[in-house]
Amino acid sequence: MTVSVNTAVNGTKDDAGALRADGAEALRPHAEDAFADELKALAAADDRPRPARWRLSPWAVATYLLGGTLPDGTVITPKYVGPRRIVEVAVTTLATDRALLLLGVPGTAKTWVSEHLAAAVSGDSTLLVQGTAGTPEEAIRYGWNYAQLLAHGPSRDALVPSPVMRAMAEGMTARVEELTRIPADVQDTLITILSEKTLPIAELGQEVQGVRGFNLIATANDRDRGVNELSSALRRRFNTVVLPLPESVEAEVDIVSRRVDQLGRSLDLPAVPDGVDEIRRVVTVFRELRDGVTADGRTKVKSPSGTLSTAEAISVVTNGLALSAHFGDGILRPADVAAGILGAVVRDPAADRVVWQEYLEAVVREREGWKDFYRACREVSA
Ligand SMILES: Nc1ncnc2c1ncn2[C@@H]1O[C@H](COP(=O)(O)OP(=O)(O)OP(=O)(O)O)[C@@H](O)[C@H]1O
Ligand SMILES: [Mg+2]
Repeated sequence: MTVSVNTAVNGTKDDAGALRADGAEALRPHAEDAFADELKALAAADDRPRPARWRLSPWAVATYLLGGTLPDGTVITPKYVGPRRIVEVAVTTLATDRALLLLGVPGTAKTWVSEHLAAAVSGDSTLLVQGTAGTPEEAIRYGWNYAQLLAHGPSRDALVPSPVMRAMAEGMTARVEELTRIPADVQDTLITILSEKTLPIAELGQEVQGVRGFNLIATANDRDRGVNELSSALRRRFNTVVLPLPESVEAEVDIVSRRVDQLGRSLDLPAVPDGVDEIRRVVTVFRELRDGVTADGRTKVKSPSGTLSTAEAISVVTNGLALSAHFGDGILRPADVAAGILGAVVRDPAADRVVWQEYLEAVVREREGWKDFYRACREVSA
């Protein structure tokens, strides 16, 4: 059935005000919807004190992120795989008067953790400002409905609150993605909000005061540092938590397997048995190229220009699964991941291709049990 834009716009409007054609499933549900059952079970089992307006106690928020089993046997799946302490510090920060800055290289789950934290703390991860070089102050403060403004002049009715303003007024968690991509003077809009907990509306001679429960999670990429460095005045309003790359091959294989499984289900891909060998191979290749040295520490290799993060490994394996499901025999084979690996590694056609060829000949070719993988890579690289 085709759905015209009109039908879609006239269709269901859910609680969050999202428009969707009747009966259509969201391509990517928000964390609070995708994991509604887990959040509900946690809230029921949670008898610890909750900060004002929090849906769960800090302990239950951490359990939601790290996974665990509740007294009644409900299994909470791990969302973040990494040091427990990092999650504990992040959650605790949100209960203080400092905001939380998640920092790290690309693909270390900053956005993912931010979304799940907001979902668990406030039950809503959608109060989001996406930072870009063009983000204007209005995106952080408020804008105007111009028809209203022209007809009736400035009034509360003509005001269009930003997600941050809504979070302040309702005591919720606001999110700012890619904070350091936002021009420095626009970033500084956050200083008053975070230190005075108030947002003045000069045109009305009014203000919106942050109520208890309000806090803010920002993410920023290590690689962008220098694009628009955070001013020290703003940095002091944040507790910074650095998300590390997975510490071992095992941890990274675990993360990739879990996410691929979830993504595969949401794409209706049939389950592919025993994909773990191929996943381990993708992860090993990415880690070795990233680290500049083989896993046994014996051979130095050159690193390509792109970031070979866990996120890229997840997408290479998911594409491989789709290939094997639609065109292969339903088992994840070296040929299903080879093209994806090549695409991820060779970003710069000249320099990266040399790096990849050297790695292929010096490492992959010589490795025991990797003959079929070597052949598959040779075939797509030719
Ligand atoms: N330690 C981890 N635990 C669980 N999932 C992880 C982990 N590391 C990466 N991922 C997965 O990697 C994917 C990408 O993560 P995300 O987009 O949040 O990265 P990011 O740090 O925001 O990257 P960028 O800097 O490019 O915005 C997500 O699907 C996430 O599940
Ligand atoms: Mg991100």
